[in-house]
Amino acid sequence: MEFYEVIAKRRTVRDFEEAEIASEVIERIIEAGFKAPTNDHMRDWHFIVIDDAEMKAKVLDIIPRGISADDMEQLLRDWNLHDPVQQESYRIAVPKQYRMLADASVMIAPLFKQNVDILKPENLSHLNGFASIWCCIENIFLAATAEGYACSFRIPLGDEENHAKRVLGFPDDYLMPCFIGLGKPGKDAKRIIQKSVDVKSRIHRNGWLPNKE
Ligand SMILES: Cc1cc2nc3c(=O)[nH]c(=O)nc-3n(C[C@H](O)[C@H](O)[C@H](O)COP(=O)(O)O)c2cc1C
Repeated sequence: MEFYEVIAKRRTVRDFEEAEIASEVIERIIEAGFKAPTNDHMRDWHFIVIDDAEMKAKVLDIIPRGISADDMEQLLRDWNLHDPVQQESYRIAVPKQYRMLADASVMIAPLFKQNVDILKPENLSHLNGFASIWCCIENIFLAATAEGYACSFRIPLGDEENHAKRVLGFPDDYLMPCFIGLGKPGKDAKRIIQKSVDVKSRIHRNGWLPNKE
């Protein structure tokens, strides 16, 4: 697939059909992750690939299975989500948080080493490891797209990361920035509308000046 086509085709998918993904394909996708830029030249990243149904169920045990209509509306109010496209995207995504990982062919737990308390950074450099793993994760999403697959992902809330650590047994100095679901998009898989952006109005040449074009 041509590069810009991959960029355009990469979408967050939350509806998967049953499919097996060959180990070599998973390896290629993760290898693409390792080509991402890294802050400390170490790429101290690990990936736990979970395809065992029982293990997957244990990891996901903590994730809510759905949300009531009232709780959904309350969430939109609590999180101050007013934009209609944004509201619609949450209405589609939130109820699928469990299923989009459970139905994926494999789940991947990306891990990066964090030496200082990420919740008490003293400067931006303390977040470099976190920034780097997200560069890596985006490469994974793009590679999955190029291979004809797609990803869902969830940022762990509350105790979800510690729960994953307990179940999967990864060391304390590694953090899991998200859960990734990798799979074959279902035929009717919903893609949330991407809010359109007038790119020219977001580009400021030689200072933050209104674009005259
Ligand atoms: C930092 C970050 C956190 C996100 N957290 C979640 C999440 O917890 N659950 C989820 O379903 N999607 C999550 N998403 C995916 C977004 O909902 C998705 O990227 C957005 O709706 C745009 O759709 P697209 O990826 O198809 O372009 C997250 C995306 C980013 C970049």
